[in-house]
Amino acid sequence: MTTESDHELNAGVFWDQRYRDEAYAFGTQPNDWFRECLEDLRPGRLLLPGEGEGRNAVHAARRGWRVDAFDPSVHGQRKASLLAREHGVGFDYRCCLLDEYNLEPGAYDALGIVFLHLPSTRRSLAYQRLASALKPGGALIAELYAKDQLALGTGGPPDPGKLYSLEFLKADFPDVDFSTARQCRRDIHEGRLHQGPSSVIQLFGYKT
Ligand SMILES: C[S@@+](CC[C@H](N)C(=O)[O-])C[C@H]1O[C@@H](n2cnc3c(N)ncnc32)[C@H](O)[C@@H]1O
Repeated sequence: MTTESDHELNAGVFWDQRYRDEAYAFGTQPNDWFRECLEDLRPGRLLLPGEGEGRNAVHAARRGWRVDAFDPSVHGQRKASLLAREHGVGFDYRCCLLDEYNLEPGAYDALGIVFLHLPSTRRSLAYQRLASALKPGGALIAELYAKDQLALGTGGPPDPGKLYSLEFLKADFPDVDFSTARQCRRDIHEGRLHQGPSSVIQLFGYKT
């Protein structure tokens, strides 16, 4: 029997298959919500878990952020470093799962969770661990697919257990004072894997 933790352990293999081509699976431009939120923040230290091929890390580094990123995909790491070189920026990118990453508590001015979908049994603890890496006053930025994204079929995991509800997601961050916490429909055009009308949850807030 395949368990949820098996799926997580295989995340690197799964995503390597998607990232091995030359084309960037989610494009080379940053996620819209992440870009918009970052515009209002003064650059500092930023953590990007599940950063894939590096589009958000490169964007932030170009704006003066000191970025730490990680992801289990070797091809993700390889393409992130290619993209960084192309734009003349650098950041620390570790090839590992969230559970293996040495998180520094209270170290970051911002945390960007962009389409890092985890099984429902693991989500809450994992996100709380990530939020513990924020300084008091640090910003949480997140965009994730909502439950009804499944019917739209324009991107995101095909597994309902990895899609979220606004209510549960907000509860995962008890120490964050949200200025935006909403579920909405928007057109997404990110590479070949996120294309079309989509149902997402967008969060922005500061850690208290
Ligand atoms: C939909 S992609 C998004 C990539 C990137 N955040 C972006 O917006 O372009 C999800 C990423 O999460 C990573 N991932 C999945 N499970 C993970 C885990 N347990 N720990 C760290 N990263 C994980 C995958 O390798 C993949 O690159």
